Amino acid sequence: MTLKQVDSTNTFLKNILSNSKPVPEGTVIMAEDQFAGRGQRDNVWHAEPGKNLTFSILLKPVFVDAQQQYDVTRVACLGVYDALKSILGDGLKVKWPNDIYYGNKKLGGMLIENILQGSQIKNSIIGIGLNINQNNFPEKAGNPTSVKQILQRDYDLKNILAEICKHIEAYYLQLKAEKVDFIRDTYLSRLYWLNEERQFRSNGEVFNGIIKGVTVNGLLLLAIGDTEKAFNFKEIEFLNK
Ligand code: BTN
Repeated sequence: MTLKQVDSTNTFLKNILSNSKPVPEGTVIMAEDQFAGRGQRDNVWHAEPGKNLTFSILLKPVFVDAQQQYDVTRVACLGVYDALKSILGDGLKVKWPNDIYYGNKKLGGMLIENILQGSQIKNSIIGIGLNINQNNFPEKAGNPTSVKQILQRDYDLKNILAEICKHIEAYYLQLKAEKVDFIRDTYLSRLYWLNEERQFRSNGEVFNGIIKGVTVNGLLLLAIGDTEKAFNFKEIEFLNK
């Protein structure tokens, strides 16, 4: 379903899940204009209307234990990665936990909201925002890029969306078929800064570390000197250069 204008496709999907009759797995809500897009860490997600992809996919991964919900994040990242890889080629990476990077710039991000029931995931709302045909970004917008900035041409949003859904579905079926190791290994192989010595900040302290992996439950594993330490999303910041 495409909406002309909505606050947030994630919020919209969450509302229809609680208000109306059952919503089928695989439902995709796309917005031409999302005027109150939500990002990670309570940030807002800005996207120029009509030029970018802002959408949410509903999955019902009841077969995934809540403790392993990060596997759903991996599936979403891999699907987006594969779809964009065929357009952009090398240079594309997944920045932990779920950003899509090209070189050192952010092409998009995800807000994944899982609704749990006991130890199961009842619904997973996978909200994805990707900069596609937008050429100019506000000064304060971090370090964004778009497909247009990279390739100097416009792309059809619906075509890219269809590719993304196709690839996410393929990985989702692998996860359903219990190919967890394949999903985890592939995710790791796409990771930005993997095995590179880089600078990070945690708790106000700047230090060098090497990304060694991501734990089963999604923590970032860093080698710092002779020790290994796992960080959650709020605890660690990547310092660019
Ligand atoms: C981030 O990098 O901070 C995550 C951005 C996620 C944005 C998408 S756009 C579609 C969906 N609806 C929202 O309100 N947010 C996500």
